[in-house]
Amino acid sequence: MYAFLRSLTTLILRSQKNSMRRIAFALLASALSLFAVAQTKPAAQTTLAATPPMGWNSWNWFAGKVTQDDVKSAADLIVSSGMRDAGYVYVNIDDTWEGKRDANGVLHTNEKFPDMKALADYVHSKGLKLGIYSSPGDQTCAKYEGSLGHEQQDADLYASWGIDYLKYDLCGFGKEMKAKAPDDKLKQNQMMHDAYEKMHQAILKTGRPIVYSLCQYGFDSVWQWGPSVGANLWRTTGDVQANWASIALIAKTQIGLGKYAGPGHWNDPDMLEVGNGKLTPDENRAHMGMWAMLAAPLLAGNNLTQLTPEVTGILTNREVVAIDQDKLGKQAERIYQEGPIEIWSRPLADGGVALAVINFGEDENFARGISLHLKEAGVKPGMKAHDIWNAKDLGAIKDDYKYSLKRHQMLLLRFSK
Ligand code: GAL
Repeated sequence: MYAFLRSLTTLILRSQKNSMRRIAFALLASALSLFAVAQTKPAAQTTLAATPPMGWNSWNWFAGKVTQDDVKSAADLIVSSGMRDAGYVYVNIDDTWEGKRDANGVLHTNEKFPDMKALADYVHSKGLKLGIYSSPGDQTCAKYEGSLGHEQQDADLYASWGIDYLKYDLCGFGKEMKAKAPDDKLKQNQMMHDAYEKMHQAILKTGRPIVYSLCQYGFDSVWQWGPSVGANLWRTTGDVQANWASIALIAKTQIGLGKYAGPGHWNDPDMLEVGNGKLTPDENRAHMGMWAMLAAPLLAGNNLTQLTPEVTGILTNREVVAIDQDKLGKQAERIYQEGPIEIWSRPLADGGVALAVINFGEDENFARGISLHLKEAGVKPGMKAHDIWNAKDLGAIKDDYKYSLKRHQMLLLRFSK
């Protein structure tokens, strides 16, 4: 390359003819710009959260009791259960790891997390990534130390430990907003945007790729401005609970949000409750299937030391995970509703379609003849259907396909050419 540039320069200098000089000059200019691009572009460019992040988070099960050993054992179990190989890589510590700041403002961990750097090294040694939690306020939701006024210091600390993911939870910042802009919602919202942007800039300055997860419960239509403050994901709802009413309510309030999600920036209807509470097998499947349709981050929230084959099977179902992680990144939308029955569909990168029919009601519904609405779903005539939860090929079914759905059950179909 250098030799080529040198001979072009010589040609320009020595050329007798103007036209020849012009051609050599043009060649040199394009060669130089190509050279500049080649120098600045990294060999392989990767987008952070190109598909919805997958992993595990401590909150839904351990809440404030989580310790370093729980996180280590979660990492071990993610590997031994096959979850890592199914795509679950982030091991996220939620609230209550924080200790106090020292005289220089440096935050320390509390006694439950004696050595965060060693924990990060351990998690990384398993081929996993480590996530952490903070708040733009002076306090987190559980009243631990927040990042207000220490954003860069905290981001630098996370980077020095080797943190790969930050969940930044509004909580304590609410009182700041009310104190500084009482009765002025617009100003309060602007303060909130600025606070999220501040941490975004702090993360960028560390130079470490850290997935940035906004948690402010969907206030102020966060899906419209989340990407502008660098969010890779943003919560669209309040906290999920381990019961069907909560899961159904969240699912139904995602209607219309699909257009805001895409590679690198995702709607987050909150973490999975699969395997928690008294969810039935049908409810666990419908919850997991719905989150996959929604291109939601899949952050398991259960106690991995009590994994049952049923729960492992649901969480690691390759075909369900493939829908969630589909490269096209198009979140499902609801295309039809009739009473408690809803039909949601999403287009897939291979030209196929994922279609979910869910019975949100309490009644058993034995094939009341509700059409599958394949045309509205984008299913082309002749496409073949695969019933994912029943692991069954159905062939080229039509709208009049008979299915029966019990209460809280989901039919999940993948159509391909
Ligand atoms: C809530 C948040 C939960 C959890 C909790 C920790 O605000 O929505 O997901 O992070 O705080 O205190």
